[in-house]
Amino acid sequence: MVWSDAQANGTVSLDVLVKRPGAAEATRRRLLEAGAAVEVAADDLQRAIDEENPPMSDEDLDELMGRNGHRMEWQSYHRLADIHQFLDFLAATYPQRFSVQTIGSSVQGRPLKVVRVSSGKPGAPAIWVDGGIHAREWISPASVTYFLNTLVEQPEALGAAGSSVDWFVLPVVNPDGYEFSHSSDRLWRKNRGGSGSGRCAGVDLNRNFGYRWGGQGASRRPCDETYAGPSKFSEPETSAIRNFVSANRNIKAYVSFHSYGQYVLYPWGYAAVVPPDHEELKRVGQRIASAIARGGGGSYTVGPAGATLYPASGGSDDWAKGSQGIKYAYTVELRDRGRHGFVLPAQYIVPTGRDAVAALAVVAEAVTKL
Ligand code: ARG
Ligand code: ZN
Repeated sequence: MVWSDAQANGTVSLDVLVKRPGAAEATRRRLLEAGAAVEVAADDLQRAIDEENPPMSDEDLDELMGRNGHRMEWQSYHRLADIHQFLDFLAATYPQRFSVQTIGSSVQGRPLKVVRVSSGKPGAPAIWVDGGIHAREWISPASVTYFLNTLVEQPEALGAAGSSVDWFVLPVVNPDGYEFSHSSDRLWRKNRGGSGSGRCAGVDLNRNFGYRWGGQGASRRPCDETYAGPSKFSEPETSAIRNFVSANRNIKAYVSFHSYGQYVLYPWGYAAVVPPDHEELKRVGQRIASAIARGGGGSYTVGPAGATLYPASGGSDDWAKGSQGIKYAYTVELRDRGRHGFVLPAQYIVPTGRDAVAALAVVAEAVTKL
């Protein structure tokens, strides 16, 4: 199973999961014989999964609930119920600034909860932020909720611009897949729609958006990980975003958080081509990467998605820019660079959440200057 691939200056690199127990060593030898450079990132993925997220005791959770009014914290990955409870807590506790709106429901009927964070300034520019479009990328919802908590506890981390823009934040675009990745298959990517079963269930939501839908890097086969769905916006998760974003004309930036690889990507994703204002997108992208590095977050690679990673059509970023005319559209691939991949130990949530905050502070500044 191939996890990620990137092409850089003529070389191709792949992360590969060998599923059969004990077969990794033979695979490694075969690749070496074929002349490839091979590095074993994890020799026992099941053990890495078991150690990724040390469970909290009921006492600890009760204690948190009593102290904070919600069970969310950023030392472990949480189930959807805790994330949603945290969003409702924000709205109940800071009703002037935070409100929660359900913009639709998933295939299995789970609410798609968007937090609106208001600057209190009429006509302020707005920024859309989402996470968790791919189920297994747990660091994404964790970082997006960390960002929300930072707006409450340390607003200066978002700079002056951070409090003069409105934010629309959907931490879990794919709640069914997210829950499935906790309960059944840690490495599930798609949603839980489609008409197939087993690995043939689900649609890749980041291939289901309606700009250049069904082109390169998107599959028409339901059993593939990058299945684009039967038609553009066939899924309730993507069509809810389309309806909400297209109705909010003040959205000037659109940021989707994924993992992994440490990239700041901008359009286009559908092919290795760039839009007319790509220099500006690159400049802001580089400011994002510098801000992350200054905060101790290590290095993020900046570039247009199709040329930097691989062409993939039907992504949220391309739709935001191509169909909605939202100038600043970014996909940020959070930590790490492949040592742990999707199974990033929980101790990295806070530092990676800080990367997300640093990125969003730069985007806020960019839109206030438009
Ligand atoms: N890893 C992301 C994905 O495969 C990258 C998306 C980049 N954007 C794009 N429009 N291709 O969905
Ligand atoms: Zn992803």
